[in-house]
Amino acid sequence: MKAIVLKSHAKLNLYLRVINKRPDGYHNLKTIFERINLYDDVAFSANRTGRIKILCDHPQVPTGPGNLVYKAAAVLRERYQVSQGVTIRIIKRIPVAAGLAGGSSNAATALVGLNKVWSLGLTKKEMLDIGNSLGSDIAFFLHDCSWALGEGRGERITRLNIKSRFWHVLVVPKVKMYTVKVYRGLKLKLTNNKDNANILTRYLQKKNINKIYKYLGNDLEHSIVTIVPSLKNVPRRLKALGAEGVSFSGSGPTVFCLLWSRQDAECLKRILQKRYSQVFVVSTW
Ligand code: C5P
Repeated sequence: MKAIVLKSHAKLNLYLRVINKRPDGYHNLKTIFERINLYDDVAFSANRTGRIKILCDHPQVPTGPGNLVYKAAAVLRERYQVSQGVTIRIIKRIPVAAGLAGGSSNAATALVGLNKVWSLGLTKKEMLDIGNSLGSDIAFFLHDCSWALGEGRGERITRLNIKSRFWHVLVVPKVKMYTVKVYRGLKLKLTNNKDNANILTRYLQKKNINKIYKYLGNDLEHSIVTIVPSLKNVPRRLKALGAEGVSFSGSGPTVFCLLWSRQDAECLKRILQKRYSQVFVVSTW
């Protein structure tokens, strides 16, 4: 029986504009995804038990049907009448429920990994159909690219031809954010703010960092800091330390900033570690 290990990367939303609320309860977005070099390892070994077994030491990661990886495996097993079982071990490094899409990334990795170890021969389109039925962020990871524009509920992906690599510091406050709650707390403006995704893409392509700083942003910020007011202090502190391009990723609570170099990022990390326990230096992957 085959066994494989795959990397499952995290993402940042450098830009997240909420366009409107849809009749199905979701929100139409325009978002720019950046894949980063923070990743989990996910190991798959097929077996003859017929059972799906998830192993993970992280206390916040469910190992039963509540785990998106389990759900992905269960859908595949059902839809393609798979008789084999699988053991999936997740080595977690991506903070959980942090706006970094670790769970969605793991689910995308599971679709790719199970396609291999169960020899299903699925096309990318078939994996995308299943991925989209499980979550809005999964499609980005199935596209296997560093940069993309996400539209619709985030699942309509257009790859962006950006060759630049950027450095970030992430601060991950120890607060659990529920995506549903953050979207529910949104106060949509009657007049939509201007959409700057195209302008930002051009500056990302040119690596014009001073301009990039101006156009980063996340429409979920107001809702995030209304739900947990103390989170306002994180971007404030980063800015007080001279950081720029400061924003929440996804539905938070992760706050990131954009740095000119790895050295600058490491220097800022050392200062932030005195106050926050989860600080990472990451770059585009
Ligand atoms: O798709 P996903 O399961 O990640 O979304 C979690 C929740 O976030 C959804 O149930 C919905 O309430 C909210 N959401 C939304 N609009 C989006 C993405 C998510 O309202 N584009």
